[in-house]
Amino acid sequence: MNIEDNIQKLLNKREEAKKGGGEKRIQSQHSKGKFTARERIDMLLDEGSFEEYDMFVTHRTTEFGLDKEKYLTDGVITGHGTIDGRVVYVFSQDFTIFGGSLSETYAQKICKIMDQAMKVGAPVIGINDSGGARIQEGVRSLAGYAEIFQRNIMASGVIPQISAVFGPCAGGAVYSPALTDFVLMSKENSYMFVTGPKVAKTVTGEDISTEDLGGPDVHGKKSGVAHFIAEDEDEGILLIRKLLTYLPQNNLEDPIVTECNDPIDRKEDLLNEIIPANPNQPYDVTDVIYSIVDNGEFLNVQRNYAQNIITGFAKFKGMPVGIVANQPNYLAGVLDINASRKAARFVRFCDAFNIPIVTLVDVPGFLPGSAQEYGGIILHGAKLLFAYGEATVPKITITLRKSYGGAHDVMGSKQLRGDINYAWPSAEIAVMGPDGAIEVLEGKYIRSIEDEEERKKYKRKKEKEYRDRFANPYEAASYGYIDDVIEPRNTRFRIIRALRSIASKKDLNPPKKHSNIPL
Ligand code: HXC
Repeated sequence: MNIEDNIQKLLNKREEAKKGGGEKRIQSQHSKGKFTARERIDMLLDEGSFEEYDMFVTHRTTEFGLDKEKYLTDGVITGHGTIDGRVVYVFSQDFTIFGGSLSETYAQKICKIMDQAMKVGAPVIGINDSGGARIQEGVRSLAGYAEIFQRNIMASGVIPQISAVFGPCAGGAVYSPALTDFVLMSKENSYMFVTGPKVAKTVTGEDISTEDLGGPDVHGKKSGVAHFIAEDEDEGILLIRKLLTYLPQNNLEDPIVTECNDPIDRKEDLLNEIIPANPNQPYDVTDVIYSIVDNGEFLNVQRNYAQNIITGFAKFKGMPVGIVANQPNYLAGVLDINASRKAARFVRFCDAFNIPIVTLVDVPGFLPGSAQEYGGIILHGAKLLFAYGEATVPKITITLRKSYGGAHDVMGSKQLRGDINYAWPSAEIAVMGPDGAIEVLEGKYIRSIEDEEERKKYKRKKEKEYRDRFANPYEAASYGYIDDVIEPRNTRFRIIRALRSIASKKDLNPPKKHSNIPL
């Protein structure tokens, strides 16, 4: 064969690989409103940056007549490219080939790019659209999954791992995305479950649709499995690109500081008035977040899950930070099981990847009641406590209003190695709220007052006394637990200055194999 023929052979093979499972299946993919695996990679990466590996891989199975049915790539497209000029590794499951199902060789392709990403120190992005284990391959497929899981685990906390789910993701296959740092689902076509509706019906008798069992609404709102729900695949891809702007390449690097024209000393007068006069009246803490961060840009993580706490990424003078904020607008910002789990995982992610944490506190306490106690709020609350106490990244805490009881300690307090703790003049930092405290201290006496008016008057008087004495920032500030009481409108400036001043801080944890966070 001469050189031209050789080259032609290569080009033909490339063309063949690009056809995936064939034109008909590509059309079927498009007719469902889905992009193909290759189109998704093209959308995700900088134009022309994709370098594909293992295009010529095929499976090695002979059973079920598969020796006569082989497709180049074997159902997953793998390689590396750049996003905003930064190297990332990607795999994209190709539903047009055996429904994107995972074979031994397919798993080896994914493992190859994961191994290289680890050596290089670059993020891995996986796009999931698969019928799960390739049934014809039996246990070799299960072994392939486990090889990937093991790498997900080793890569955790070393390189950022992001999963997009744009199609089916079922059975044990869900555990690879679950082991990664962020899971994104598209509103159309995506679902995740360990066992599908048919098995649910057989085993438990439950009659439930795919959507109701594992659709994006379920994982965005109820289970918390998904961190982002995108309207469609286009938006999902943009979200992943945006997310990366807040993350470093790996745990040994810092997140990238970008140019920012938003003035450092921008004062926000509305913040001086945002806290309602009535301490029981809610307000939207995202108004505080949007007004203090660069250009009002905030990437809300798990937006619809445990909305009593807000987690997400923003920048201060171009420096990426993770923000954790109690949300008085939802369940009064109380800490419950889901909020604790959500924030704990977020804090740990930030700590693993050198992203400073800014905490905005307005928390009345932990949610009381049997449902929470039976559900293990003790353990889940301890996760958040643990996450804050273990974190060595710069930690800045601003107490906006309530900070009561155990929840005060948990939310980035000074004693959990909070580096800089500020409070607004409206802060109420105490063991408990005035009504609770007066009930404990004077309840018996109050109930003994016969005249109702007198009783109410006395209670109000005592509550006021308690509020004036304890429920303010100055008691904590007098002990140095609060470094300064700041004017709300200066918050942006004070945070930026604080971040700059402690950028080089070093905190160490004692040597150990790993901690034993109360899981
Ligand atoms: C081999 C598969 C496959 C699989 C789909 N296909 N899933 N081939 N192994 N797991 C093939 C189909 O035969 C079909 O081939 C093509 O992919 C498209 O599938 P359709 O069924 O036509 O597509 P659709 O109607 O969109 O339905 C998609 C689906 C369904 C819901 C995913 O295919 C399905 O239920 N598949 C089986 C899912 C499953 O039970 N997987 C194993 C789970 S256990 P043709 O040639 O017609 O195009 C598991 C364990 C993992 O994954 C454990 C890890 C630890």
